[in-house]
Amino acid sequence: MGRLIVVSNRVALPRRGEPTAGGLAVALKDVLKSNGGLWFGWSGETTKTPTSGEIKALRYQGIDYATIDLNETDYKGFYAGYSNNILWPLFHFRLGLLEYDRRQSEAYRRVNRDFAKALLPLLGPDDVIWIHDYQLIPLGAELRALGARQKIGFFLHIPFPPWAVFSALPGAEVLMRDLLAYDLVGVQTHRDLGGMVNCFQDGLGLSPDEDGGIRTSIAGTERRTQLSAHAIGIDTRGFANTARKAINGPDAVRMKASMGERKLIVGAERLDYTKGLPHRMRGFGALLDNFPQHLNQVTYLQVAARSRNEVASYRDLRRELDQLAGRINGDHGLFDWTPMRYVARAVARDTLAGFYRMADVGLVTPLRDGMNLVAKEYVAAQDPENPGVLVLSSFAGAAEAMDGALLVNPLDPEAMAEQLDRALTMPLAERKSRWSSMMQGLEEQTAERWAEDFLAELNEQAAAREPSLAA
Ligand code: G6P
Repeated sequence: MGRLIVVSNRVALPRRGEPTAGGLAVALKDVLKSNGGLWFGWSGETTKTPTSGEIKALRYQGIDYATIDLNETDYKGFYAGYSNNILWPLFHFRLGLLEYDRRQSEAYRRVNRDFAKALLPLLGPDDVIWIHDYQLIPLGAELRALGARQKIGFFLHIPFPPWAVFSALPGAEVLMRDLLAYDLVGVQTHRDLGGMVNCFQDGLGLSPDEDGGIRTSIAGTERRTQLSAHAIGIDTRGFANTARKAINGPDAVRMKASMGERKLIVGAERLDYTKGLPHRMRGFGALLDNFPQHLNQVTYLQVAARSRNEVASYRDLRRELDQLAGRINGDHGLFDWTPMRYVARAVARDTLAGFYRMADVGLVTPLRDGMNLVAKEYVAAQDPENPGVLVLSSFAGAAEAMDGALLVNPLDPEAMAEQLDRALTMPLAERKSRWSSMMQGLEEQTAERWAEDFLAELNEQAAAREPSLAA
């Protein structure tokens, strides 16, 4: 039995003083620990010298970490450019924000090749490799080109648009073909699975067999790539415990004291245009306009952790949010009531857990999202005796299974205001029944379960591949 090799662009390196790791990092660490494993990826550091592929190794709590630096050119071309200014808007259906640049496309290939070259010597013949997210789509094909025969799976954490959108990308077919190097390609939801299947059909003329796999013959070798949906979860119990403790911690106590008798609406994410932050602020503005009974009775806390500052659309968004928050407070605030508290910085995870628990409403309204773990964390953090209400965008992957949420279309501020009013005035019995049905789902579909299910399916696929390879 080989090791599990996890590859992601960002590696959750154990660093002192960082906010506690999120659900995904925790889940992967647990799986890595129990399998004996290695986590490989970018160190998060940029260097002025050309990328040497030099590996920095670290062993911590039973897990090996191996990272490489990016040089400044590759950081700009591969990370800020192709990954985050081309693929990110493309996969989130935002073609108007996509700024194509052929040199960035080359940098993307080159860095994926460099990752493959650096990783290959670290692999044993029986290792199972699990590659994550849009930054590393060609990595499997690059590893195969270097002769890797191991089982390789890929998971896309973000949405998968249909071919009508995806085909806008120059070289879209090449990227789709890259996916055929994997034994298993996983996406979050059935909606995304539909998008991916549509891309294979309309883009490459390939349809899945009745078990959901695509068969191809590449250079005389028969291959089969299984396609499936695996909804990621969180460490539900762990987060619930964190929230229970945090509610009596100093930050939560200060927050509570500053609120008085007012209710709290909370939102927290990276400052990213996919999260629908301006729409959310407009929805809150509409609540105050259309339901004046909430004036001076509610506060909306929005945490927006700054992100990808080197990309212009993120800087534009920051300006827009600064203005909108100022406008809402200017229009509705009183000398002793600030309707909207806007924090454009990261807040420690356990502090957030306490805020989630005390909030009457969790407002999670992305324009598109693969899953959205904040929605899940908000629910997990609630007090079972007095749970809050989740107001959730129907465009979040999480909406596929969270039937207790109040769903909204974030593009409609009036509708958002109506759902916010409904959430703020919902009777306890309805809150409890909505919450418990969602919580039951979260207890079943944890991050650990997601990883186990994906890896079990990957092992099955690869086993099925053996006879044809031997033949
Ligand atoms: C999303 C992506 C991840 C990415 C994260 C943070 O969750 O799916 O792949 O790592 O955002 O973005 P960053 O660009 O800072 O890595």
